[in-house]
Amino acid sequence: MQFQAIDHPLVRHKLTLLRDEGTQPKDFRDLLLEISMLLGYAATQGLPLRSTSVQTPVGPAEGQLLAGRQPVIVPVLRAGLGMAEGLLRILPAAAVGHIGLARDPQTHQPVEYYRKLPADIRERHAIVVDPMLATGGSAAAAISIVKGAGACGVTLLCLVAAPEGVRVVDEQHPDVPIFGAALDEGLNDHAYIVPGLGDAGDRLYGTL
Ligand code: PRP
Ligand code: URA
Repeated sequence: MQFQAIDHPLVRHKLTLLRDEGTQPKDFRDLLLEISMLLGYAATQGLPLRSTSVQTPVGPAEGQLLAGRQPVIVPVLRAGLGMAEGLLRILPAAAVGHIGLARDPQTHQPVEYYRKLPADIRERHAIVVDPMLATGGSAAAAISIVKGAGACGVTLLCLVAAPEGVRVVDEQHPDVPIFGAALDEGLNDHAYIVPGLGDAGDRLYGTL
């Protein structure tokens, strides 16, 4: 499996608060932003660097800067927006592309309703962000879209994943590493993650 769980006390703490049904949208948004910064730290570990030198107030210092164009962060609307905010805090010069996908309540298949990606995506690594990896249909579709647009590499960053969803993404996109906070038990009859945290978009924006 390509799934890598980011196991850290702060991640466990914040994920537990996010799962709690009593957590209200404002706290949910704050926590999702904070946990996305922590997950993003791990998910960006492979970014290429170039050597450089700078002058400190004391003398010259060798250092490294991110090489080439910065990544494009691609939130899957709506819930991915909450994670993109956190990633932008650690990658402030990243571009942001948007993909709108809504899961059909009967078939659970994603239906695309919006797409806006940067024109120079061929020069960028895409980090697709969506808190919930349930059946995997939305993530696999979003990855296909950024690959089709020419992104030079793709990483998937989620919060909670079901084994079913990880399998689907693994089968369709074996080259894409998946990072997340937790791999849960599975899906219920409505294709919701168990125990999961419910409907992430609704909890973020108070549309329950
Ligand atoms: C949720 C979630 C993912 C998708 C995951 O979005 O944010 O995009 O479902 O399910 P899957 O792995 O089975 O495809 P939803 O379609 O509910 O839209 P929303 O974010 O606008 O609420
Ligand atoms: N979408 C969500 O927001 N939560 C789930 O558990 C599954 C799909």
